[in-house]
Amino acid sequence: MIHIAKDFSHLIGQLPGMTDKQVETHLGLYAGYVKKLNEIEEKLKLTDPVDSNYSYGVFSELKRRETVAFNGSYLHQSYFENMTPQPSAARDELDKAIIEAWGSREKFEADIKGSAASTPGWVILTKNQVDGRLHTYIMYEHHIGFPIKNDVLMALDCWEHAFAIDYGTNKAAYVDNFLKVVDWEVVAQRYQTLR
Ligand SMILES: [Fe+2]
Repeated sequence: MIHIAKDFSHLIGQLPGMTDKQVETHLGLYAGYVKKLNEIEEKLKLTDPVDSNYSYGVFSELKRRETVAFNGSYLHQSYFENMTPQPSAARDELDKAIIEAWGSREKFEADIKGSAASTPGWVILTKNQVDGRLHTYIMYEHHIGFPIKNDVLMALDCWEHAFAIDYGTNKAAYVDNFLKVVDWEVVAQRYQTLR
């Protein structure tokens, strides 16, 4: 299939605490991942796997980067989908699941902030298929650290490119702002879909 970058231009200039330049630049990077994903998938079809090798092989290199481009594309899609200019709040089933997992909203937010401080990559909120509960996990780059048997409910981009234009090195301030622009309706819909 041909992967297509979704149009998130409606977010430019609309997200509180995020400048046009920050969001535009980031959307450009997202489009780049989608382009590379298509390129890698196309090249894989045309490349003979026979000479694959751990040290170097054309097919091997494509396989090593395939997940970078795939996760880079769809983590970004999830991230932009789960932000909104309109204030929203977790409620009903999702809020119940958050309280079950963390005990309070404050502890949940403290987990997100601590997780963000622990990675140069991504924080994901997931529903774990093994225990049925909500979890946060951290990922490095786009392809390292994703736990199997988990469905992503919310993605938080912690790469410096996500915040450096607006916040410099102050990732904590970016995460504080992110928590104000999370689209909890979208996160709740993802949660409901799994039930
Ligand atoms: Fe990003």
